[in-house]
Amino acid sequence: MLSDNSTQISGPSGRLRRVLVNPEVPQEWLQALGPCTYELVQPHEHSWDHSTLLALAREVDGMITLLTDQVDEAVLRAGAQGRLRAVANVAVGVDNIDLRCARELGIGVCNTPGLLSDATADIAMFLILATCRRAFEAAAELREGRWQGWRLTGLLGRDLKGTSLGLIGYGGIAQAVESRAQAFSMHVLHHARRPTGLPGYVGELRELLGQVDVVSLHVPLTADTQGLFDAERLGWVRTGSVLVNTARGEIIDEEALAQALTSGHLAAAGLDVFAHEPEMSPALRRCPNLVVLPHVGSATHATRRAMVELACRGLHAFLAGTTPSNMVEGPGPTSALTE
Ligand code: DGY
Repeated sequence: MLSDNSTQISGPSGRLRRVLVNPEVPQEWLQALGPCTYELVQPHEHSWDHSTLLALAREVDGMITLLTDQVDEAVLRAGAQGRLRAVANVAVGVDNIDLRCARELGIGVCNTPGLLSDATADIAMFLILATCRRAFEAAAELREGRWQGWRLTGLLGRDLKGTSLGLIGYGGIAQAVESRAQAFSMHVLHHARRPTGLPGYVGELRELLGQVDVVSLHVPLTADTQGLFDAERLGWVRTGSVLVNTARGEIIDEEALAQALTSGHLAAAGLDVFAHEPEMSPALRRCPNLVVLPHVGSATHATRRAMVELACRGLHAFLAGTTPSNMVEGPGPTSALTE
């Protein structure tokens, strides 16, 4: 189905490896599974939900999932009762996968690091520009017929030049934001769990938040970062500053953020991600000083295709018994590919 049959990845019985693929993934992007034949199981979009994922988990060797698929303990245990060896997530974030359980069951997990750094950094920069220059507030004034013409003191924003930016987390996306921000002559600091040894590193989160005008979040969602920006830490952010989030919604306590925006403690926020996607909390909806996008950080043709291709290559490596460069969790002895 996918390509020529020159190399077949198959078990001792000669059966083809079966791969479950989220229905949203275009078939032509799956060529990167390699010059081998897999049996693809790709249910119709209308029948795709958690119960389908659960039911099919026990019948496949591998899965290509999206960040909207909950690959939880139930799915992984069902898979382990069958022949599931690996999960390839088309995302850099793997918070939709129960990694602890995958490790315990020896199911390999890979993701798509690196490829989406530029696209996501573009969106973070877009949110920084839009918030600092009040772009959407201004556009709404114009569209709604409220604009009364050029005024000396109308819709004044903040210059990016000379403004300080604090990056929370310092992986590939944060570093791509840093280089863009430097091109705008922003002064960039960063905070990460481990010292980076690089200029601009600030070891204490509170110290960094007290020094910058714009804060941009780039940490993965984990038990440690869930709710990291709660009312207390939002209080550490300087009054009148801006908060941007292109990482995961659950890193921010949205009620506390709405409160900080309403009170004016924060001048504005720019969000590409939300705690309960696709919902947006009513409290946030009411904030006029909030710029929002529907999780489009990596949404370019080239980036999304490259993500699928990297996930495919990772899955192919796992199923061929080798270690993919994009491995998050390795298959343990219980899942050695020695059928
Ligand atoms: C990811 O890969 O984790 C991103 O959120 C997708 O845009």
